[in-house]
Amino acid sequence: MRIAVFGLGYVGSVAVGCLASQGHSVIGFDIDETKVAAINAGNSPIIEPGLDRLIAEAARSGKLSAATGAEGKLDSCDIAFVCVGTPSADDGQGNTQERMIL
Ligand SMILES: NC(=O)c1ccc[n+]([C@@H]2O[C@H](COP(=O)([O-])OP(=O)(O)OC[C@H]3O[C@@H](n4cnc5c(N)ncnc54)[C@H](O)[C@@H]3O)[C@@H](O)[C@H]2O)c1
Repeated sequence: MRIAVFGLGYVGSVAVGCLASQGHSVIGFDIDETKVAAINAGNSPIIEPGLDRLIAEAARSGKLSAATGAEGKLDSCDIAFVCVGTPSADDGQGNTQERMIL
């Protein structure tokens, strides 16, 4: 499958590494350019045992890439996972009413 993952933090980075290691073609998106650059350089943006190796192998094989913008890149994707942070309400609770801008 061709899989898109939005958000390359703790959840998204592990997701892209594991999904690509299973043979899927994965593209990750994040608004943070340093995380996108890390993935494209074959490095994990987070510290997680074993993830550096998975991401390095996937990036080298062409199974994994990352970008800051999704325009024109989703048409060929079979599924997209949204792994961005949950917005907070003024009282500190999770705000699931806020719209996500991708
Ligand atoms: N980390 C956990 O153990 C855990 C457990 C259960 C649920 N969750 C949920 O999973 C989600 C992700 O958690 P996390 O720990 O990976 O968060 P994180 O803060 O580590 O990563 C979120 C990433 O989303 C990116 N992002 C924000 N807005 C974006 C946008 N519009 N487009 C693309 N990228 C965007 C951020 O730059 C960041 O890199 C949250 O909703 C969290 O509540 C996390």
